[in-house]
Amino acid sequence: MCGIVGYVGPRDSQAILISGLARLEYRGYDSAGIAVVDRDGALEMRKRAGKLQVLRDDLAAHPMPDGTTGIGHTRWATHGGPTDANAHPHLADDDKLAVIHNGIIENFAELKADLVSLGYTFRSETDTEVAAVLLGHEYRASGDLVTAFRAVVSRLEGAFTLLAMHQDEPGLVVGARRNSPLVIGLGEGENFLASDVAAFVEHTRHALAIGQDQIVAITPAGVEVTDFDGVPVEASPFEVVWDASAAEKGGWPSFMAKEVSEEPEAVANTIRGRVHPGAEGGEVVIPELDGLDELFVGIRHIIVIACGTAAYAGQTGAYAIEQWTRIPVSVELAHEFRYRDPVIGDDTLVVSISQSGETMDTLMAVKYAHEKGAKTLSICNTQGATIPRESDAVIYTHAGPEVAVASTKAFVAQITALYLLALHVGRVRGVLSAAESADHVRELEAIPAKIQRVLDEEQAHIEQFSHWMADTQSVLFLGRHVGYPVALEGALKLKEISYIHAEGFAAGELKHGPIALIEPGQPVFVIVPSPRESAELHKKVVSNIQEIRARGARVIVVAEEGDAAVLPFADEVLRIPLAGPFFEPLLAVVPLHIFAMGLANAKGLDVDQPRNLAKSVTVE
Ligand code: F6R
Repeated sequence: MCGIVGYVGPRDSQAILISGLARLEYRGYDSAGIAVVDRDGALEMRKRAGKLQVLRDDLAAHPMPDGTTGIGHTRWATHGGPTDANAHPHLADDDKLAVIHNGIIENFAELKADLVSLGYTFRSETDTEVAAVLLGHEYRASGDLVTAFRAVVSRLEGAFTLLAMHQDEPGLVVGARRNSPLVIGLGEGENFLASDVAAFVEHTRHALAIGQDQIVAITPAGVEVTDFDGVPVEASPFEVVWDASAAEKGGWPSFMAKEVSEEPEAVANTIRGRVHPGAEGGEVVIPELDGLDELFVGIRHIIVIACGTAAYAGQTGAYAIEQWTRIPVSVELAHEFRYRDPVIGDDTLVVSISQSGETMDTLMAVKYAHEKGAKTLSICNTQGATIPRESDAVIYTHAGPEVAVASTKAFVAQITALYLLALHVGRVRGVLSAAESADHVRELEAIPAKIQRVLDEEQAHIEQFSHWMADTQSVLFLGRHVGYPVALEGALKLKEISYIHAEGFAAGELKHGPIALIEPGQPVFVIVPSPRESAELHKKVVSNIQEIRARGARVIVVAEEGDAAVLPFADEVLRIPLAGPFFEPLLAVVPLHIFAMGLANAKGLDVDQPRNLAKSVTVE
């Protein structure tokens, strides 16, 4: 939430900041703003409520002098509504100093009261302006931006990434982070700071990750990182593994359309390099877990924690993890987990899942688990992110950058990573034979081509009927076993981007209440398990379909090819290729992603930037 970018170097910074913000806009689109120190040494600032395009138009209509040092911000509003005044940057020290911020400064009211008593006045309702005014106050005392910044950050409580620059120190941008993302981009004679590498990857793929409670000062000549006391620390270098084109729309009508089309690749890339030939077939070897087998020894309980779509990926993966490792698995929303005083210790493995690696609820839960002595492993899609750094081990999903706010390709990549983990642990613990594991590997390796078939064969059909359903007020989704979290994911996606009431239910729960919602014409998606693989479950789901059909529901089934039992009761049939029971969700979710996108498009909505939301939720 909130995207931040900073630049120092020989080039004019406005275009660099604006294109960086365009790549960070998924983090918030309530307002955007930039500040630069111009070539005459004066600080210039422009900020506007609304999407980045409003700022772009404003700058085009009324150009602002350019300069080689600058900072930029795209906002998801927390303190204060989405107005011009509350947009960042915030200025202080007679408008010579500019500050941008991501996060929440929890003690802003006390700090503000202190500053008011000293005679300072405020122009916005934000917590950020308090940090800016405090920084101006400290700057007047020390005349040195880094010293003043250090004095300020140690007084702030909460979570923050802060960036600042002062017109009296051109060529310098300082930043700090606590529980909020900040990465450094290392260029030739120029350097960058950003919430995410996406902001600078078109200029450099050399990056440094900054740890908790650290301050960084960038100049064209170099980068200095210290802790909040000024003691130098080493930042961890990494190379960005994708290039700028991966985060571009590339001719697709939306990022979401592009990312749904990349679901096969997301699964294939997550498997790539992690399967070695074994005597019985493919054997999972996860290089990141090399030498870490002790993480899985003595484990009596696995808890998967995540939020939203990532939690549904966790719920899907849990069935296979428990089956293949024979360790009990529970799945919890990260924000619920840490407030219930869970019984955990060194016999618990806490597996966190996060596309962004920055979700505050998940990060706090990981830290909590760590403090309680649990072992922690994260599944993450973003290099340089905080959650993997706070975990004992990480398995990266290689879905590539996900820009649309609604998560799609990350979901299938997360399930894939969980399956790889389950196979690895099952083998380490001697629960799975090489032959059993190789069978599962074969199934998994076949998934990308099967997802591609769903896209090729069903996309046009689904888009067509989603257009007929543009006026629908409510949609229900039903599933059993691994189909249940798929139903939850289908409902979430629809709510999120179509603003339609949608609910996912375990099909068995229907008669315990939700069936009262069924009235003639109510659309209900049903995820049907395979009759070959799960005959008992299949029969039960077909009975559930009959129950809702008898009450007038309009039934849309997602069923495997050749399943004729569903035909008499279905208004629409969406076919998926044959797959083993644990692997069906990777196929069954694809029509639901296409449907949500189709319906939102039919309603003329912005599928990439749905209202009120932002990707990477860095506040609790
Ligand atoms: C839904 C969606 C969210 C995220 C959730 C967790 O489409 O995108 O529900 O899945 O906010 O985000 P990460 O995975 O970044 O922790």
